[in-house]
Amino acid sequence: MRKTLSFNEINKLADDIIDVIDNKTVIALIGDLGTGKTTFVKRLAQKLEVTDIVKSPTFNYVIEYLTGKIPIYHFDVYRLCEPSEIYEIGYEDYLNSDGIIVIEWANIIQSELPDEYLQINLYYSDDEEREIEIKYVGNDKKNEEILKYVGFSN
Ligand SMILES: Nc1ncnc2c1ncn2[C@@H]1O[C@H](COP(=O)(O)OP(=O)(O)OP(=O)(O)O)[C@@H](O)[C@H]1O
Ligand SMILES: [Mg+2]
Repeated sequence: MRKTLSFNEINKLADDIIDVIDNKTVIALIGDLGTGKTTFVKRLAQKLEVTDIVKSPTFNYVIEYLTGKIPIYHFDVYRLCEPSEIYEIGYEDYLNSDGIIVIEWANIIQSELPDEYLQINLYYSDDEEREIEIKYVGNDKKNEEILKYVGFSN
């Protein structure tokens, strides 16, 4: 389901997502340049009480945040040439560890995403709002549960 949300509502959505997902969830963030992917990760980290400054991992591909209640592994795969290159930065190990994995530009590594993941699409709408689409891929029951929790079900 797709909804137009203000920036404040998007921040609240990030908080709700942290409350409803499991510790090992993969979050696939998909959206054009400047739609708010990094800002969303900052808010997820804030909700987890991460004390580090969260910045865009564009040049290092992945940054680990271990100071919060749950580890967060923040990927930005915009500059990968091939989806399979993600394994060179330890993707498999991150998938096997306890912690939330958030991937900016996840559409680029679509073929390498796990069987289940939370997909969040961000689309430009207006200056202070975005259209947001959420779907938990690969598990209908969880999809229903999460969408209901975050106010995205009918
Ligand atoms: N939730 C939000 N609250 C306030 N401002 C926001 C929010 N989301 C996006 N913005 C605005 O959009 C700008 C770009 O956001 P951000 O850097 O998070 O985008 P991005 O999708 O990560 O971009 P890139 O594709 O370059 O990585 C921010 O600097 C901010 O001005
Ligand atoms: Mg970014």
